[in-house]
Amino acid sequence: MDRPRALPRPLALPDFPWDALAPYRARAAEHPGGVVDLAVGTPVDDTPTIVREALAAAANAPGYPAAVGTPALRGAIIDWAARRRGVTGLTDAHVIPTIGSKESVALLPLHLGAGPGDLVLHPRAAYPTYDVGARIAGATPIPVDTDADPATWDLPDGAGTPDRPIAMIWLNSPGNPDGHVLGVDQLARIVTWARERGAVVASDECYAELGWEAPWDSEAIPSLLDPRATGGDMSGLLALYSLSKQSNLAGYRAALLAGDPVLVGAVTEIRKHTGMLPPAPVQAAMATALADDAHVAAQREAYRARREALVEATAVAGLVGDPASVAGLYLWLGLPEGAAARGSYELVGAFAELGIVVAPGDFYGEAGAGRVRMSLTGTDERVAAACERLRSPHAAALFRP
Ligand SMILES: Cc1ncc(COP(=O)(O)O)c(C=O)c1O
Repeated sequence: MDRPRALPRPLALPDFPWDALAPYRARAAEHPGGVVDLAVGTPVDDTPTIVREALAAAANAPGYPAAVGTPALRGAIIDWAARRRGVTGLTDAHVIPTIGSKESVALLPLHLGAGPGDLVLHPRAAYPTYDVGARIAGATPIPVDTDADPATWDLPDGAGTPDRPIAMIWLNSPGNPDGHVLGVDQLARIVTWARERGAVVASDECYAELGWEAPWDSEAIPSLLDPRATGGDMSGLLALYSLSKQSNLAGYRAALLAGDPVLVGAVTEIRKHTGMLPPAPVQAAMATALADDAHVAAQREAYRARREALVEATAVAGLVGDPASVAGLYLWLGLPEGAAARGSYELVGAFAELGIVVAPGDFYGEAGAGRVRMSLTGTDERVAAACERLRSPHAAALFRP
């Protein structure tokens, strides 16, 4: 008789949450004006022409690309970091391109050697991949309030002891889904706390160009690698950035990692061994995109207009945003204080009656209960349709019963 197979061994991953939205999408699709899908943060505007041209010009690529990127790309990353992120002092040893940032979020704990017993902290309301990446490595994900003083973080017994080291802390500023921004003082405080405990800090910064409310409407949103946060020492620190949102390049898979050369070196080694090579034409496209600020500014203005319209229309419908949601690609909506509590799926159902698809707050952890996330990634026409529906008496009846 055959023996039972050892593999696949379950990884204890959560269900892929987006499948749960199917019935709400189907209901929304019945709307006579067509569906407005604002559930997923997938860009809908065109990839800039200069970037497409750079991709096409590099289309003849018979040889393997370098995992660390072409010299042109690494130079473009270093220049961009100084110009847009206030991060100086980077060299080739500090940077590497990645194949989008989702893979590096999901694999970073594993690539850095995290494993059973290690704690990986991440924001309470968070992109689910921080939790998934910790689990893939066999480590333990722990949600913490990254807006608060780390001294107040609620950690399990034994956290920080040799058996349960705090191996890594994920930050996400501006946050998905909540749009919160970490200022330099909070970043510096977390860096100090992490260093005292020997923890790596990794900061996912893909929404950094999308600051809306003061001071972030005029001041650059700080990177973890900002010298005011690092004290001039990048050891133990990594920042991730993606071109998916700022440059409408989600389909290219174009992102980067920067920071402590020891950490970047460890990641590079395993990326070389496993063939995680960003395609050569994409590397060329990335270098062009990183050198051009004009298309980023234009895209930002498109999102600003959509955000203003959706903020106003959702308020008319009776929803309230998180007051600390001051940046990023999403509205983080709930009902006003005093309203009867409704679960996030119930709110998703109410949106579906208007032909609008949003994501339930529950996708982003317990902190998302009673909220929904609405992405700004609709075309102007679809966003206008959503706003008209949200201003209707039907919407008021749904959200103010
Ligand atoms: C916080 C955060 N990190 C990373 C990603 C992944 O982006 P990409 O893989 O397109 O670079 C996303 C995508 O929505 C995100 O919201």
